Amino acid sequence: MEVIVCRDYEEMSAKAAEIVIGAVRKKPKFVLGLATGTTPLGLYKRMAEANRAGKVDFSKVVTFNLDEYVGLAPDHVQSYRHFMDANLFNHVNINKVNTHVPDGKAKSLLAACEKYEQMIADAGGIDLQVLGIGRDGHLGFNEPGTSLASRTQVVVLTEETIEDNSRLFQNKDEVPRFAVTMGIQTILNARCCLMMANGKNKADAVKGCVEGPVTAMNTASALQMHPNAVVIVDEAAAAKLELLDYYKWCRKGKEQLTNLL
Ligand code: GLP
Repeated sequence: MEVIVCRDYEEMSAKAAEIVIGAVRKKPKFVLGLATGTTPLGLYKRMAEANRAGKVDFSKVVTFNLDEYVGLAPDHVQSYRHFMDANLFNHVNINKVNTHVPDGKAKSLLAACEKYEQMIADAGGIDLQVLGIGRDGHLGFNEPGTSLASRTQVVVLTEETIEDNSRLFQNKDEVPRFAVTMGIQTILNARCCLMMANGKNKADAVKGCVEGPVTAMNTASALQMHPNAVVIVDEAAAAKLELLDYYKWCRKGKEQLTNLL
């Protein structure tokens, strides 16, 4: 796991954008996994700016989002489909037909989960999965206790997640109790995982993810088993990392090492 500690949110977003944009430029038919939440907004803003400036082309890119609330239609303002349209897809030259968000209104949610896995496989698998992290260490909506071998599934949200996400709704009672989410194994199958976290309220989750035991109690800790996982954090989210100085040391040494390889 490569841990990149950044000064603040802006530097974290810029670093993530550099990685994502660089990867898309190398492979135009890129399959990009995307996340919702406040964390990736700075990344999406930079992706849109780079696209406007002609520095990156999304016309052949295919995307798969991590999750969606059960019961919210795509045009519901709090749906993750709406979030993605408003914060990224409407601002880049992506073909919306190539953008996928799990269907939270499917007649059979189980069938929709299987179909989502199949669509990812048919696209050739995810090249890079963008991730945020919940305060309880969840990736997507894989709450503590979820199998680390899980595939796209229907889950029950914890009260903490409902509380955290209620800030975007009129009130807590409007937050759906269930969601469809890629499973942890689905996420681990991506060729590269790029997780971002900022702010001190994520410090415990980041500590568990990066340095804790691999455990279903912090599903993001499964990233320790991924051969190509990059974690980009700001100073506040990195504050509880035991090897903080070492991660910074590694980052400095990396350039020298690259020249030697
Ligand atoms: C939700 C999403 C996650 C996201 C998390 C953190 O629960 N399902 O994918 O990582 O929120 O959100 P934020 O980035 O707003 O802190």
